[in-house]
Amino acid sequence: MPTFLIINGPNLNMLGRREPSVYGYETLGDVEQRLVKQAEGLQDCRLRFFQSNHEGEIIDRIHEAFQTLDGIIINPGAFTHYSYAIRDAIAAVNMPVIEVHISNVHKREEFRHHSVISPVVIGQIVGLGTKGYELALTALYDHVTGGDHT
Ligand code: DQA
Repeated sequence: MPTFLIINGPNLNMLGRREPSVYGYETLGDVEQRLVKQAEGLQDCRLRFFQSNHEGEIIDRIHEAFQTLDGIIINPGAFTHYSYAIRDAIAAVNMPVIEVHISNVHKREEFRHHSVISPVVIGQIVGLGTKGYELALTALYDHVTGGDHT
């Protein structure tokens, strides 16, 4: 029974109200609801959700996933660009992780062009809006189960 953790980092609790021209009008609750619906159509797929504005809390949740969950989808927010600690936590648990960014970080400020997280994830989805989370769920589920839901 694959169980995945969806982690959203700092400021993503403000989704829908925060810079809507960049991130859209959907709230994090809307995104999570869509993922729950999607998971209902994937056999035995369970989801857990976590959002935090605090680096240490995100690291604690990644550690808790060690040997208990089957994969992680993470949008680390601005931590993407400089948190070696989150990167090391992902490397430590050695489980499949997909990195999601709602906006196309490569079109934006220079500091957003580099991710310190991407070397320790199986893949990255960037710039496709909140649909990126759904694409990530399909990809992670297929990665873990060996299926093909594309
Ligand atoms: C983001 C991109 C980051 O640069 C930014 O700090 C975020 C959101 C995205 O989803 O596009 O908070 O991760």
